[in-house]
Amino acid sequence: MPLSDLSALPQEVSELVDSFVTMKCRYQSALREVRTKLEILDDEFQMRHSRNPIHHMESRIKSPQSIAQKLRRKGLPLTPDAAMKNLHDIAGIRVVCAYLNDAYIIARLLTQQDDIRLLQTRDYIANPKPNGYRSLHLIVEVPVFLSEGKIPLPVEVQIRTIAMDFWASLEHQLRYKETASIPEELNRQLYEAAEKIAMLDGDMQHIHDQMMELVHPLGTKEI
Ligand code: GTP
Ligand code: MG
Repeated sequence: MPLSDLSALPQEVSELVDSFVTMKCRYQSALREVRTKLEILDDEFQMRHSRNPIHHMESRIKSPQSIAQKLRRKGLPLTPDAAMKNLHDIAGIRVVCAYLNDAYIIARLLTQQDDIRLLQTRDYIANPKPNGYRSLHLIVEVPVFLSEGKIPLPVEVQIRTIAMDFWASLEHQLRYKETASIPEELNRQLYEAAEKIAMLDGDMQHIHDQMMELVHPLGTKEI
């Protein structure tokens, strides 16, 4: 039976489906707002400094299955209300940037906007996870304007370099797509790969900084 045929469902189930659809629509709006803000910042940076700090962005709304799994894991009721109150990553955007310092520039430019409220910062670049994972995670709250008024909604923003994204994407595939768990020796190799990648990010930043010195010897800073 197609999900759109709500009349054939028991009242309780159709109400639940309905509120999940409403919830998804609201989080999509929140995501769009954050994405637009980031696009504007990237455009302005390009205009002022002739380069884009943002390489690309990916966004997603957590699937109903993942929402249910997370609620169950936390021992919470499987309702849209519980999801909205307790989960901060229903809407997520990943910002992949060029250089290491760009991650912090983007975070600062976004969070200093006066309609954005920073709820949480987890700096896994300064403090990588034990497996070597690096990324700057923010939870920001953004106001979404609807016919019934303004509702603040959280959006998870993951900011990382192209190199960090390369590692995290492959590590995620290895960890979640394969059925067998990763042997300790391979975990160690993955960790070492993450360390090498961090060194490369440092090298690329250094090359970029030296290039800027050459182009702007008087020290015009990039913000
Ligand atoms: P989740 O329950 O997974 O959302 O974790 P959390 O709420 O404790 O937040 P955390 O900041 O640890 O992770 C949030 C998200 O970052 C995850 O859903 C992943 O997308 C990403 N992430 C965190 N740790 C890793 C990691 O070790 N490897 C990869 N590839 N991604 C990670
Ligand atoms: Mg998550």
